[in-house]
Formats: sequence, structure tokens, C-alpha cells
Amino acid sequence: MKKHLLYLLCPLFIAAANAQESADTQALRDYAEKSGKKIGVAVPVWRIDVTNDGLPETQAVYNNFNILVAENEMKIDALQPNRGQFEFYHGDNLVNFAERHGMTVRGHTLCWHKQVSGWISSDGGQKNDHNYSREELLEILKDHITTVVTHYKGRVHEWDVVNECLADDQSIVRTNPTAYALRPSVWYTGIGEDFIDSAFVYAHRADPDAKLYLNDYGVEMQGSAKTQAYYNLARRLQKSGIPIDGVGLQCHLTVGELDSAKFDNNVKRYASLGLTCIVTELDMSIPDLGAADAYEKQAAEYRTIANVLIKYDHCPNLVIWGVKDDQTWRRGEPLLFNAAMQAKPAFYALYDVYKEYAENLPAGIESTAADAVGELPPFVDVYDLMGRSVARQMPRERIYDLPAGLYIIDQKKMAITH
Ligand code: XIL
Repeated sequence: MKKHLLYLLCPLFIAAANAQESADTQALRDYAEKSGKKIGVAVPVWRIDVTNDGLPETQAVYNNFNILVAENEMKIDALQPNRGQFEFYHGDNLVNFAERHGMTVRGHTLCWHKQVSGWISSDGGQKNDHNYSREELLEILKDHITTVVTHYKGRVHEWDVVNECLADDQSIVRTNPTAYALRPSVWYTGIGEDFIDSAFVYAHRADPDAKLYLNDYGVEMQGSAKTQAYYNLARRLQKSGIPIDGVGLQCHLTVGELDSAKFDNNVKRYASLGLTCIVTELDMSIPDLGAADAYEKQAAEYRTIANVLIKYDHCPNLVIWGVKDDQTWRRGEPLLFNAAMQAKPAFYALYDVYKEYAENLPAGIESTAADAVGELPPFVDVYDLMGRSVARQMPRERIYDLPAGLYIIDQKKMAITH
């Protein structure tokens, strides 16, 4: 704690947060990488100039993060403002920046009910008010996804294929525990439910190596109907043979909202579907900025999220939705850096989680977390009709591929057994 105060008070230590670090410190991303994890950030390209590597903002981005997301520049209205006219300028700059700095890129997002070009839907994606037929809309979706994913093939490593397709009211799961309800949108209304399936298939055909995600909000904590509906939809897609790799939990949260056990219970059960589960848009608003311990409480919740993700091989990524507190879509200073680009306690909370984990890995063993999804040991995970966990997960183990063969390492005891 004292160290954090020092960092905040002393400009020299503040500069260290940009990872031109001295003594025992390394950049956030280095410790994440050592832990087998990725830590990402969404960048508002219209405010942060990604063609200038010398700016404090860009330095903080490439020094601390190893995943980059365009906050708006890869949405449909940005990429295809007029039919057949694609604008890749800003997206390309962002991808070039990421490649210069050894970062991977998450593409956000191929199909959404917002920020959709006016020629598709006059109200930005909710109504099919140009009265396209199902076939025409499928053609539009296919064209957009195929062109964009092909353009970025091999350079954008994963895509949020379908964003926020669930309705907010999921009371349907109370009577039908495997159901889910979709929100009205130009895609759902005009095409039907299989717009989701089709979007994944189009993306997969364009780049079979890209990891493909569903993404949504309000699906973080187990016990809520929407969380259950999200699981149901992911399972339905997976069982239908749709090329889905994982689910994104946006995590636009407010301090006080996070329930560590419910978050953990929700996250862990995606492993049994063979899906990764990642945090895609974390920001943590502070409801009362005047409170004495406001930033410490915020830091504690960032820490809780990272502590849950770091335990699970099927949770490789944590992405923060923005760089600094004066450039965010939300109130309540929800990010890791303040307006002066000083690292906040929340930054150091994440830093400590990855550092501690990385430093406690057994010597000479690289974590395989990011690739190990298919190798997870089976575990029992049973839920009642309300989506509550009624059976505990088996003790957690991680599998490592060592030169001499396969070893199983018990994380608690850090012992290696054959
Ligand atoms: C937000 C951006 O941060 C804003 O700049 C923009 O004005 C609106 O969209 N869920 C998502 C993101 O999936 O795309 C949204 O991003 C935030 C909510």
C-alpha cells in the first residue's frame, strides 16, 4: 500500500508506470505474459494518435498492454459507411501500431444493433426500416463480415462476432431454464435467430484461424437470469456446431456491484462447454468520487476480477475499456490511468496480481494457459433451475507440457506429479 502511495505522489514513480521501469519492476504486460495471460486495452483512435509512438498515452498503451482493441473504429458504421465503400484507414493504423509493439488485436465488432450505418438501418441498427428481405440482410451481413475479416486475416486475431444480442429481460429462464430471449434489432427482426449462426460461419470461413466470440453485458454474475440466458445461448451455438471459441463478459461495472463468488462461479463453468471466457470491456465506475477510500475500493474490485481470471486456463484475456479517466464513455473515473496519465491504485492492483502469479510459477515452466482450453481436466459442475451452483468444481489443476512428457501441477501445492 505504501508503495502505491509513493507512486502516486512522486513523478519519478509515476513515470515508472509507463514501464520505463527500474529496480524490481517490469511492465504490466510482461508479468501478464509470464503468467500465460494477455492484458488488453481499448483505444479511442480519434483521441489517441496511434501513429505517434512517442506520446505518453501511446507509450502507456504499448508498455503495459499486449492486446489492442479499437473502441469505435472497427464497428460497422466506421468500416462501411456507404454500401460497398469500406474505410480501413483508422483500423489499419491501429493494427500497424499493434504489430510494431508485439500486441495482438481484438476486432470489435462485426454484428451489433448499434453504430450500424444508416444505409442498413436509419436508427443505427435497431429497426429494419429500409425493409430489406431476409435474403438481402443475410447478403449484407455476409458481405460485411467477409470483406472485413478477410482484410484483417492473420492480423486481427479474434473477433467479437455478435455483440449484445440478448434482451435485457430474460425472465423466460425462470420457467424454461435452457432458454434465452434475443433483443429486437435489424438483424434479428429481419433475419431471425440464425443471424447469429450465420455471422459466426461467415467469419470463420473468412479466417479459420481467428478466435470468434459472443460478447455481452449484464452476464457477469451467476444467479441473474441474463447470465443464465447467455450460457444457454453459448451452449446452443456450441452444440449446433457453430464455430464459436468463447464468450466475452463486458464487465461495465460500478464499485459495489461485483460479487466475487458469483463472478467466479459463472466464469468457471464455460470450461465445461470447451469455451474460453474472457473479460472484454472492463471499466469500474466509482459512485462517490469524494469518498476517502474511493480509489482503493475500485482497485480492490479490479484485483478481484484479475484474481478470478488468473486461476483458470480457459480465461486468457482481460481487456480494459479505455486508457484514461477523461476519455471514457462512462462517469466515475473507471479506468487505470487518471487524466494526467498517472497510474491509479487500480493499475497497481492488476500489476500486483500478475507479478505475484508470475513470480510463483515453478522455475523453468512456462504457463500454457492461453492454449490449454482443449486439455482441461474434466470437472463436475451442476446447476439448479435458478442457475445456482449446487456442486463444487473438482480441485483445480493445470497441465503443462514439459520436454519429458505430461505433468500435472497442483497450483495450491505447486507440486509436480506424473
Ligand atoms: C462505446 C464507446 O466506448 C463509445 O465511445 C461510443 O460512443 C459508444 O460505444 N458496449 C460495447 C462497446 O460493446 O462497443 C461500447 O463502446 C460500450 C458498450
